[in-house]
Amino acid sequence: MKPMPRQLSSSSNRDNSRFCMPPFGQALLLLLLCFVCHAGSCTEQERESLLQFLSGLSNDGGLGVSWQNGTDCCTWEGITCSGNGAVVEVISLASRGLEGSISPSLGDLTGLLRLNLSRNSLSGGLPLELVSSSSIVVLDVSFNYLTGGLSELPSSTPDRPLQVLNISSNLFTGNFPSTTWERMNNLVVLNASNNRFTGQMPTSFCASAPSFAVLELSYNQFSGRIPAGLSNCSKLTLLSASYNNLTGTLPDELFDLTSLKHLCFLRNQLEGSIKGITKLKNLVTIDLGQNRLSGSIPNSIGQLKRLEKLHLAYNSMSGELPSTVGNCRNLKNMNLGGNNFSGDLGNVNFSTLRNLQSLDLMSNNFTGTVPESIYSCRNLSALQLSNNSFHGQLSEKIRNLKCLSFVSLVDISLTNITGSLQILQSCRNLTTLLIGYNFMQETMPEDDEIYGFENLRIFSLNDCSLSGKIPKWLSKLTNLEMLSLYNNQLNGAIPDWISSLNFLFHIDISNNSLSGEIPSALVEMPMLKSDNVPPKVFELPICTGYALQYRINSAFPKVLNLGINNFTGIIPNEIGQLKALQLLNLSSNRLSGEIPESIYKLTNLQVLDLSSNNLTGTIPDGLNKLHFLSAFNISNNDLEGPVPNAGQLSTFPSTSFDGNPKLCGPMLARHCGLAQTPFVSTKQNADKVVSSFVFMISFGAFFAVGVLYDQIVLSRFF
Ligand SMILES: *[C@@H]1O[C@H](CO)[C@@H](O)[C@H](O)[C@H]1NC(C)=O
Ligand SMILES: *[C@@H]1O[C@H](CO)[C@@H](O)[C@H](O)[C@H]1NC(C)=O
Ligand SMILES: *[C@@H]1O[C@H](CO)[C@@H](O)[C@H](O)[C@H]1NC(C)=O
Ligand SMILES: *[C@@H]1O[C@H](CO)[C@@H](O)[C@H](O)[C@H]1NC(C)=O
Ligand SMILES: *[C@@H]1O[C@H](CO)[C@@H](O)[C@H](O)[C@H]1NC(C)=O
Ligand SMILES: *[C@@H]1O[C@H](CO)[C@@H](O)[C@H](O)[C@H]1NC(C)=O
Ligand SMILES: *[C@@H]1O[C@H](CO)[C@@H](O)[C@H](O)[C@H]1NC(C)=O
Ligand SMILES: *[C@@H]1O[C@H](CO)[C@@H](O)[C@H](O)[C@H]1NC(C)=O
Ligand SMILES: *[C@@H]1O[C@H](CO)[C@@H](O)[C@H](O)[C@H]1NC(C)=O
Ligand SMILES: *[C@@H]1O[C@H](CO)[C@@H](O)[C@H](O)[C@H]1NC(C)=O
Ligand SMILES: *[C@@H]1O[C@H](CO)[C@@H](O)[C@H](O)[C@H]1NC(C)=O
Ligand SMILES: *[C@@H]1O[C@H](CO)[C@@H](O)[C@H](O)[C@H]1NC(C)=O
Repeated sequence: MKPMPRQLSSSSNRDNSRFCMPPFGQALLLLLLCFVCHAGSCTEQERESLLQFLSGLSNDGGLGVSWQNGTDCCTWEGITCSGNGAVVEVISLASRGLEGSISPSLGDLTGLLRLNLSRNSLSGGLPLELVSSSSIVVLDVSFNYLTGGLSELPSSTPDRPLQVLNISSNLFTGNFPSTTWERMNNLVVLNASNNRFTGQMPTSFCASAPSFAVLELSYNQFSGRIPAGLSNCSKLTLLSASYNNLTGTLPDELFDLTSLKHLCFLRNQLEGSIKGITKLKNLVTIDLGQNRLSGSIPNSIGQLKRLEKLHLAYNSMSGELPSTVGNCRNLKNMNLGGNNFSGDLGNVNFSTLRNLQSLDLMSNNFTGTVPESIYSCRNLSALQLSNNSFHGQLSEKIRNLKCLSFVSLVDISLTNITGSLQILQSCRNLTTLLIGYNFMQETMPEDDEIYGFENLRIFSLNDCSLSGKIPKWLSKLTNLEMLSLYNNQLNGAIPDWISSLNFLFHIDISNNSLSGEIPSALVEMPMLKSDNVPPKVFELPICTGYALQYRINSAFPKVLNLGINNFTGIIPNEIGQLKALQLLNLSSNRLSGEIPESIYKLTNLQVLDLSSNNLTGTIPDGLNKLHFLSAFNISNNDLEGPVPNAGQLSTFPSTSFDGNPKLCGPMLARHCGLAQTPFVSTKQNADKVVSSFVFMISFGAFFAVGVLYDQIVLSRFF
């Protein structure tokens, strides 16, 4: 939203004569005299005010070079003066690397119309003199580190000209002042998003500022109900308070704001129905996801002809999707996931929704077959229908969707995996394909049956009880980053070509019947050796479990999970090369030999599970150096010798070590003899300080990683 330049032309109306000499009443004479005494340069007082601002900065980002006393401040960097070069009108100092505080002296610049200090590192408070300036129309201090509250203006303050105030992305706290805003009767835009404001959501200025149009309050801590007073905001076009703590229902008053185009209350605790919303005929955006809304989508939704985004995901809504939604022909983005919508989706005709780009109906109770009309939405690039009660095979018509990039069809009772993959391989732009929990007991397609998928980055085909081998056609997916084949019945060895998948960093093939040795190719995986996954944002967040969502590929952990298979032989010492690994699970196999010493090089490891194998020898000293380790299990092997009694490993419970009769240690049934003094005790004094430090790290890591581990466990649902 562009600020309205309504008052820019009126700048010459301002009374700036006092910098010049006492007014004589004769405007012409005054101008002439001004010209004479200043020869078009800024006033001494303006220069002083600016220099005072400069001296308040601890880092001036190089401004000092041109901001020299004795020179015309109209020539200084970032300063623009009025036409005749006499009055500072615009200060434009965004992204200059400025540090320090904002001097109230800027409020003395009586000609200043626009002040932009956005994207610096300014700290301290926002001087009241700027908000209550008698000239400033546009004030942007967004993206700084400003703190404190906004104070109330003195009650004697006359009406203020401020139209646009952007204080977003700072560290402001406290309640929003209310009386101040009664003086702000020219306000059009208030952007206070991404701060730490608390208390009631402010709406009082609606009554005082007749042109008020944009209220952006997202990412704060406003609480309580949406207050009364909104009905006076008749010009409001944007109302956004996403990511706050608002409760109660959407007030009826809200449904009278017929100018409203964007209504966003994502992630609050709102409840009740949305029935009244269809009175807002100009709505373009409805973003009410992640609340506690209930009831159904009214049939009148079809009256919202301008609607482009309908986002009601993760509420408690139910009922059918009304067929009238087909009248919202401008819809680009529909997300109804995580509700309790039901009914035969085939009753909805999607073919009128030509602009639809993203459709997410995941985790509902829709029945019937996936309607063919979806496949006439030619602009569809993201389709998520996972976790519904559909039946039937995948339609050939999905081939029509040439833009399709993200497809999630998990757990919708699909059959015929070979046919499904042969159809999907025609969608050349597919980058994400999630189709697990389908195709029960079928056989993994053979190599000559599948080609294509050359752009695929994320592929999950877990929990299908598939038999067969890891197929060769996967080797052609040269852009693959994540491969999830867990919970199937695949047999045979891990193929050597695996290391040719240069981008693969998340490999979960656990709980199959894979056998053979851990191939040396696997310890050559390039992406697990170096930690530089190029970040890419998904078209839709990938849900792993109920509340966890990944929006970006690089947030997924680097995983090698070979657990619960039939692997034999030793753990190759070269495993120490996979420095980026965060989770290594080799549990429940038939691995033998010693735990390789090189494991200490896996310094990013947060989860290490080697349990239930046939490993022998002692616990390598280096394991104690894995400071990020928060889950560790070597139980049920044949290890021997002492368990360290200090350091990272000593923080794990005895269950991490159980089932190794030859291990000894204070927390185990078998205590160490004198000959088996734990290796760490030799340097115990030095370790005392270190160990409390390590404990803190591991505690911190446990939190960070507790989440990670949950995500890994929960990732079994996608
Ligand atoms: C700027 O110069 C004027 C006159 O020479 C002097 O009075 C003033 O103190 C100077 N200001 C600063 C900030 O150095
Ligand atoms: C302030 O400057 C930044 C960076 O140039 C710009 O993005 C922003 O729109 C400006 N603010 C206003 C209110 O014009
Ligand atoms: C601050 O908000 C104003 C009004 O919405 C907008 O024009 C400006 O671009 C925003 N500033 C930044 C840096 O985004
Ligand atoms: C609010 O400011 C933020 C910058 O912090 C900007 O990204 C956003 O677009 C602005 N919102 C509005 C409605 O102006
Ligand atoms: C709206 O404004 C009018 C006049 O300013 C006032 O009388 C009325 O009480 C306000 N309504 C609400 C709901 O605040
Ligand atoms: C949000 O509100 C609920 C209930 O009013 C309260 O229990 C909770 O602590 C609040 N959360 C935050 C982050 O303020
Ligand atoms: C979903 O709706 C059905 C009726 O359509 C109801 O029986 C069921 O309890 C609801 N489930 C949830 C989780 O609300
Ligand atoms: C889905 O719908 C069926 C039939 O209407 C109902 O029996 C079942 O409880 C629903 N499932 C959920 C999770 O609400
Ligand atoms: C497929 O992806 C490429 C590269 O991202 C893009 O240029 C092209 O437009 C896409 N094709 C379609 C039909 O969306
Ligand atoms: C599987 O799908 C393919 C392609 O649609 C089809 O040719 C084949 O007949 C299907 N097989 C079964 C058993 O339905
Ligand atoms: C593991 O391999 C052994 C010997 O090759 C075989 O007897 C056993 O059935 C296999 N176990 C599984 C779970 O595949
Ligand atoms: C473990 O290894 C030992 C010696 O290498 C062998 O005798 C034993 O049978 C193995 N146990 C299992 C369960 O494979």
